[in-house]
Amino acid sequence: MCGIAGYIGDRDSADVLVDALSKLEYRGYDSAGIAVFENGTIKVEKCKGRLANLVEKMDSDGKPTGHCGIGHTRWATHGEPSDINSHPHGNKRVTIVHNGIIENYKQLKDFLISEGYSFVSETDTETVAKLLDYYYNGDPMATISKVLSEIKGSYALGIMFRDFPDRIFAVRKDSPLIVGVGDSENFIASDVPAIIHYTRDYYLLEENEIAVVKKDAVRIFDVHGNEIFKKINTADWDVDAAEKGGFEHFMLKEIHEQPTAVKTTITPRITEHMPDFSAEGFDANKLKSYRNIFIIACGTAMHAGMVGKYVIEKIARIPVTVDIASEFRYRNPLIGEGDLMIVISQSGETADTKAALGLAKEAGADTMAIVNVKGSSIAREADMVVYTHAGPEISVASTKAYMVQVSIMYLLAFELAYANGKFTEETCREYTEKLEEMPDIIDEAILLKEKCQFAASKLVNADSLLYIGRGLDYALSMEGSLKLKEISYIHSESYAAGELKHGTISLITDGMPVIAIATQKDLVEKTISNIKEVKARGAFVILVADREVEVEEGVADIVIRLPEADQMLMPMVAAVPLQLIAYYTAVLKGNDVDKPRNLAKSVTVE
Ligand code: F6R
Repeated sequence: MCGIAGYIGDRDSADVLVDALSKLEYRGYDSAGIAVFENGTIKVEKCKGRLANLVEKMDSDGKPTGHCGIGHTRWATHGEPSDINSHPHGNKRVTIVHNGIIENYKQLKDFLISEGYSFVSETDTETVAKLLDYYYNGDPMATISKVLSEIKGSYALGIMFRDFPDRIFAVRKDSPLIVGVGDSENFIASDVPAIIHYTRDYYLLEENEIAVVKKDAVRIFDVHGNEIFKKINTADWDVDAAEKGGFEHFMLKEIHEQPTAVKTTITPRITEHMPDFSAEGFDANKLKSYRNIFIIACGTAMHAGMVGKYVIEKIARIPVTVDIASEFRYRNPLIGEGDLMIVISQSGETADTKAALGLAKEAGADTMAIVNVKGSSIAREADMVVYTHAGPEISVASTKAYMVQVSIMYLLAFELAYANGKFTEETCREYTEKLEEMPDIIDEAILLKEKCQFAASKLVNADSLLYIGRGLDYALSMEGSLKLKEISYIHSESYAAGELKHGTISLITDGMPVIAIATQKDLVEKTISNIKEVKARGAFVILVADREVEVEEGVADIVIRLPEADQMLMPMVAAVPLQLIAYYTAVLKGNDVDKPRNLAKSVTVE
């Protein structure tokens, strides 16, 4: 949801900003822009569309030259994607970039209009820029504090005042922002990949802390002007992690990274082939005592939670409710003391997930976050945190983050089942060992590439398709369907296979593709019956199945046989061909796989 960057140092700031924004484009790509101090004035270049459009524009107009600037890549909320609505916003005296939403911008705008200001864009951001100008009294800190007391909503702001060409100001609330600390150069950014080429050291700004970023110094203050001395964090990500490394797309690279990501995530939580969350400080007796577990997340992360529900309920026998964060938070949920809420989030910044977490805390429930981004808002707010170690996920369509989230779901389920006495030590060890084998099995599943490419060639002209499965296969089909629709733009639904004949089967017409998943031995026969029902009505069936499932002639048009694994862990195997089918379908359609239309990673607005 918008990426912001800022630079001050000896390098050409336009070059650094363009480079940093290229690592943040996953956060939005409706427009891009930069503002740079050039000979004492603030020069702005911005335009609609991708960052490449801005680069082209600067190639012809001439790029602003200077050593201090701010930049923005936009996911439009207020006002359509257009040149005029692109950031930076402001006037000659104060210019800003913003990620977030200002909820009371209309009142503020009316007030400013009554004070003689005029507006050129439809954005909420321009209101903040003009409000800063209105209150500006020569003291930027006092001005920013005054404005913060008046604006409501979420924001990460990069601010430049014409009178202070040697510094950038940065502040955040409910939107992420870091301050990168280099050697005679400093940065601001929405996320680590933007700065990792230049420095690994950064400060995490807390709510409403104001950073004053100069070439040789970074100082951080609270809204009352008191200086705050913070600990520097060091990013442990590989610099190459934010590059495509020879792959055509980040999504394909990230699919290939899954074995390593799973290994890196589970290894620190396994001791002698038993789950071990002692480093996280989890108390097994406490964990097993929860009355209910709520797993709350959005999109793909919620689908990982669905796998968790099936597994925890099956083996640990604790009731689990999975809900979409945006629904949960507004349905006055029955959650309270004695309950555990697990939130799952790659970014750790998703607005609805964060709000649901806050609600659970208020209600007295314990909270646990499964998060990929260190120091993110959700990680900081939850009582317990399990970091997944997927590394940066750049592709908007999530793959490796899902896989590591699922791997933690399994480990937690094993821990709970053992603590609850539902698993003997031997069974727990046996399953944990099977989980440890998953990286190799996922590697084998990636070899199904060609078969998946062939399956994709049969989907490319479809208008709509169905994904079906039962039990864990149904949980997985939800993810398969989301992956396909978000990047191929082909409509698809996932359906519990047994539910089809209660209405949805009427959609099946001659040649309509149905992707069926059949890996759960006790349910396979029933799924095959459901496949026969759609086949008899003309469906083109692609079956993703365990290698032992017997498939009679004519039941499926394409059968993708999975490498061998325990059936409980099969979602981690079957997810791979589903990701690859979605990927190749999008490639065949010529879509922008890593940056699907209308989407952005890290959804910091509700
Ligand atoms: C889809 C996808 C999204 C995210 C969702 C939650 O591929 O990535 O559905 O899973 O927006 O994001 P996080 O995990 O950052 O909370």
